Amino acid sequence: MSLPERYAFIAEWYDQNAAIMRSYQLLYYASDNTVEMYDIKNRRIFLKRSKVENLCFEDLFIGGTINVHSRQLNLVEYADEFTKKQLSSKKEKTLAMIKPDAVAKFGAIIDMIYRGGFLIVNAKMTKLSRKDAEEFYQEHVQRPFFDNLVRFMASGPSIAMELMSNSAVTEWRRLLGPTDSSMARSEAPNSVRAKFGTDQTRNACHGSDAVATGQRETSFFFAAPGRWKNTAKFSESSCCVIKPSAVLEGNAGQIMMAIKEAGFEVSALQMFHLEKANAEEFFEVYKGVVAEFTEMVQELCSGPCFALEITGKGPNTANDFREFVGPADPEIARTLRPNTLRAKFGLNKIKNAIHCTDLPEDCQLEVEYFFRILAE
Ligand code: CDP
Ligand code: MG
Repeated sequence: MSLPERYAFIAEWYDQNAAIMRSYQLLYYASDNTVEMYDIKNRRIFLKRSKVENLCFEDLFIGGTINVHSRQLNLVEYADEFTKKQLSSKKEKTLAMIKPDAVAKFGAIIDMIYRGGFLIVNAKMTKLSRKDAEEFYQEHVQRPFFDNLVRFMASGPSIAMELMSNSAVTEWRRLLGPTDSSMARSEAPNSVRAKFGTDQTRNACHGSDAVATGQRETSFFFAAPGRWKNTAKFSESSCCVIKPSAVLEGNAGQIMMAIKEAGFEVSALQMFHLEKANAEEFFEVYKGVVAEFTEMVQELCSGPCFALEITGKGPNTANDFREFVGPADPEIARTLRPNTLRAKFGLNKIKNAIHCTDLPEDCQLEVEYFFRILAE
């Protein structure tokens, strides 16, 4: 008989009532999808081995967030050598950044990332200052192109992303292609730089060059979130959330492309993993009004989502965007409004791909909820 596959993690849960962080050893048994938890400080079983709904192996990685019986846990470390050995290259991480020259094409690039088999575990649109760019590219400070590079990186917003996959560092560099965009076009015509880069400097995206660099570069953007201001405008804008089930299906890039093609601009973008309390608060206005409130909340906190600030149509942005998103029920949308986002990407009334602000007067509140309250 072979040993059951058992993976061990250190998981943290913030106990709101006691206002303390609690640490657990969390064991995951792949054979029957069960979880067992030990309270480390009090040295006792916290959760008897049991099935956890909606949890799967893909959700288990360092830095990831999982929901166990309505508790949101953060996986902070591997808790044994077996788990570390098994998972560290399978769940390798790297930093990908969409540089200022390619931010307009971000949907197509994010689609290539998903199609390339990567998981996006963190994402944020932000604008680097010259100082930020100098720090990020410090290794090149002596190079003749340094000044030009720094000026370019500070010329507009970028999108920093943490990608995860088997051998993510090498695989993302492969998809990225050679540094020089014209060389990329001759040597790797299907690469990101071949398709979206312009020259040696304006080459669409960045990728870490080694595992250690990846760790340093992902920390640069995601370990101190307060350092990086988002780019939200908070005026003549609407809030769009690409829901967890659509993200899980790998449709986020396609949805972003469709939004751009319809003439909207995306002026802010960030990935969030909502806690249940936040999802309830965000959907507060639907409580008692919409029969599926509980399921809506459950869907919104079931995994990572993308929040976008939509602009581009002046004072008509909110109304036009809601029209483009379409009826709440994708079945109805497919019959009556087949060109809408929900008709194309929705599965059912709960997993309807997109949340968008209903009433124009709520737009600022919703944009602020993500880009001021949750982001800070
Ligand atoms: O980005 P990658 O790791 O492929 O190349 P690098 O050699 O680490 O250079 C960092 C960045 O500097 C490149 O992505 C280009 O944007 C820029 N560069 C440049 O402007 N001129 C060069 N001759 C080489 C690089
Ligand atoms: Mg490099």
